Amino acid sequence: MAVALIVAAGSGQRLGARRPKAWVELAGRPLLGWSLESISRTASIERVVIAMPPGDAGPEAAARLGLDRAVELVEGGQSRSESVARALRASGEDEIVLVHDAARPLLTPELAESVIAALVGDPGADAAIAAAPVSDTIKRADGALTVIETLDRSVLWSVQTPQVFRREALRRVLDAPPEQLAAATDDASLIERAGGRVIVVPSSPENLKVTTPVDLRLAELLLADRHRSDA
Ligand code: C5P
Repeated sequence: MAVALIVAAGSGQRLGARRPKAWVELAGRPLLGWSLESISRTASIERVVIAMPPGDAGPEAAARLGLDRAVELVEGGQSRSESVARALRASGEDEIVLVHDAARPLLTPELAESVIAALVGDPGADAAIAAAPVSDTIKRADGALTVIETLDRSVLWSVQTPQVFRREALRRVLDAPPEQLAAATDDASLIERAGGRVIVVPSSPENLKVTTPVDLRLAELLLADRHRSDA
């Protein structure tokens, strides 16, 4: 069985909301509620730890999220990876650890299961990550906005969460100084830097990250569509 860590401690500044992003309303429930529901419906996951905004990990938050006892709240840290590290420390002993950003509300249980299965099925891998093929042409430019090169799109992936790790590999890389953790935009990059093997699990661009008001609107439309086709 696996444990899931949901990181939800971000401020949501780029969303322009007056409250932490996790609590921003999306299609009738807090943003965090959507990924939590998908994680709760993932059969291989038996426990969940959520890294919450500072001061927001008490019984009031638990009641607002309608949590059961298999979900634990901890306070997040200064950076995303510090929040992951704090949640990991509270997460018991399961060997397989799934990390998911609360900012990706379109997660499905099927995607979570397929990333877990990819890691479990490849004993030589330290991590498996969901990622979508890149559809834009990507160029690298210098500080003066002069293009330096055009990258080969056929080998590029836009990386998402869930990212699934072997506990010991994740624990080791998160045991780094705060400034190194702050520089990491995902946890898999820490594994790569330490020489570990990370495998890609193709995913849909629909598993988008809510960062700006446009993303929020798009997520709302996609969730409404999904519910219409479920009904
Ligand atoms: O900032 P960014 O959009 O990359 O954040 C990705 C995820 O990490 C979000 O779900 C956010 O809540 C979480 N996060 C966190 N602790 C921080 C910063 C971000 O849990 N200090």
